[in-house]
Amino acid sequence: MERLLQTLAARIRGARRLTAMTGAGISAASGVPTFRGPGGMWRTHRAEDLATPDAFASAPALVWERYASRREKVASCRPNAAHDVLARWSTREGVVVVTQNVDDLHVRAGTRDLVRLHGSLWELACFGRCTAGAQPWRDERVPLPDAIPRCPHCGGHARPAVVWFGESLDPADVSRALEATACDLFLTIGTSAVVYPAAGLVREARSRGAFTAEINLEETPASSLVDLDIRGHAEEILPTLDALL
Ligand code: APR
Repeated sequence: MERLLQTLAARIRGARRLTAMTGAGISAASGVPTFRGPGGMWRTHRAEDLATPDAFASAPALVWERYASRREKVASCRPNAAHDVLARWSTREGVVVVTQNVDDLHVRAGTRDLVRLHGSLWELACFGRCTAGAQPWRDERVPLPDAIPRCPHCGGHARPAVVWFGESLDPADVSRALEATACDLFLTIGTSAVVYPAAGLVREARSRGAFTAEINLEETPASSLVDLDIRGHAEEILPTLDALL
């Protein structure tokens, strides 16, 4: 492990352009349950019952109940050492953080140049996509006053401004993430690498000549792709790497 970390630290030191892509694993140490790990959201609930436009159309109260409890949980969590290290690195020219997480712990850690691919738990949008309500608005109140929040513009149902299964990502975020694959070093941290388009970014970076590394507790479909595969806790590995810089 020592040799692996030294090698990666040398790559981080030498990178003019560094991109870090994160998943739920980076927030696990903050107390945010992952999706597919022990106690994960998709271990206890069917994604199609909670994270699709159809699920919301047929049971908005049930979906909101679920998101309200996730907001309540995340509201009690703080960024951990892994978030803090990436926030510090993001002040360096050429560093981009791309996240699948909707918990905004990267935001709260002060990360600059952050690309949020899947939206935010703390933002709402009009489910009916009325013109004014299509642009998400921020609402950090816990609990929200209404079990099913309303769009302030058209009075229709408001939804969590997160990307649900079967929905496309914001094209602006996708192009920023793709742009960030043109880098010297691409790190994939705490993601099971099964949800696309995010899971395709490491392959894209590799095809553009980037040195690639994965930090994860367990093997993922990306493990066989990357140049360096590091097993361990992000909240321990990242501060260790930072100390080696
Ligand atoms: N340090 C490093 N890796 C960790 C840690 C940790 N402390 N704890 C868990 N992991 C790893 C797990 O081994 C797993 O591979 O993080 C990964 C979490 O995987 P998922 O729960 O599948 O989360 P993620 O990859 O972010 O999910 C992708 O799927 O449900 C959708 O939209 C949702 O953004 C989410 C997307």
